[in-house]
Amino acid sequence: MTDGPVATLDEIRSYFNGKADAYDDVDAQPYWVLSDELLWSALTEYVLPRLPEDFRFLDAGGGTGRWSHRFATARPDATGVLYDLTPAMFGHARAKAERYGYADRLACREGDLGRVGEELAGEGFDLIFNFHNVLGFVDSPTDVIKQLAGLLNPGGLLVSFVPSRWHAAWFNLTLGQTAEAGRNLEGRGRFTDTMPDMHLFTPEQLRAMNEDAGLRVDLTTGFPVLLYPGYQETQISGSTRSLAELLGDRAAFDEVFALERGLLGTADAVGRGNNLFVLASRPAR
Ligand SMILES: C[S@@+](CC[C@H](N)C(=O)[O-])C[C@H]1O[C@@H](n2cnc3c(N)ncnc32)[C@H](O)[C@@H]1O
Repeated sequence: MTDGPVATLDEIRSYFNGKADAYDDVDAQPYWVLSDELLWSALTEYVLPRLPEDFRFLDAGGGTGRWSHRFATARPDATGVLYDLTPAMFGHARAKAERYGYADRLACREGDLGRVGEELAGEGFDLIFNFHNVLGFVDSPTDVIKQLAGLLNPGGLLVSFVPSRWHAAWFNLTLGQTAEAGRNLEGRGRFTDTMPDMHLFTPEQLRAMNEDAGLRVDLTTGFPVLLYPGYQETQISGSTRSLAELLGDRAAFDEVFALERGLLGTADAVGRGNNLFVLASRPAR
């Protein structure tokens, strides 16, 4: 079990305050483009068809609103709340919502996910998602999953996309950091020495956390499984040369995407995923 504080809220806020203005540069890194296209493809296949008309979403730890933006622009009937600890991050989400004309459908709220249950008490959501390391930074992922589950409407969906222990250990070993890899296998660690520590997860742990929160786990998968990021991809800009060369070629990108896409729902490949994707639902009454 990995519950327990990894860093103070001030440390996390200060880390993301420093990243906020350049954060969306990740959209130009070929590896993360691949990962994001796979994530959107999984959402399009497994999540969007299950949502009602006029659905309401909560983007937990939504940052600069990269994923709120996708949902709000793909589904003009949707309304949502982006909830995040770091004002400089969600300031960009607000600006994006104004620029693209959905500010009336997306509220940006400042808050700690450790208190999200009480902060948003009385609100109900058809979809709650936390993408890219959000659960890694909270004191107790188990408790946050429980609080988020309590905010779901009956039949509502909770989607988590979180860092894998096995991937982190592999990554740190490629940098010669054996002690750090050992910590990763125990569920703690980081990818660079400038970032706060994070919780790291396994598929089985995620299944248990969601079930303990009273949710049914509908799908556990992980991706990308065939290509992993290098050190450059832990920075907000720059690319590992081999990844840039391969994925910078449109035809090769499409081929890699097709290979990865073919493995998306394959249970055998889950543990090889860089990030782990879990879709859980609250039973309908
Ligand atoms: C790596 S970013 C991911 C942002 C976004 N989900 C995405 O995929 O682009 C992690 C975000 O989690 C937020 N965060 C970290 N700890 C949090 C907490 N305890 N409560 C609310 N947000 C938190 C940070 O402020 C940051 O914006």
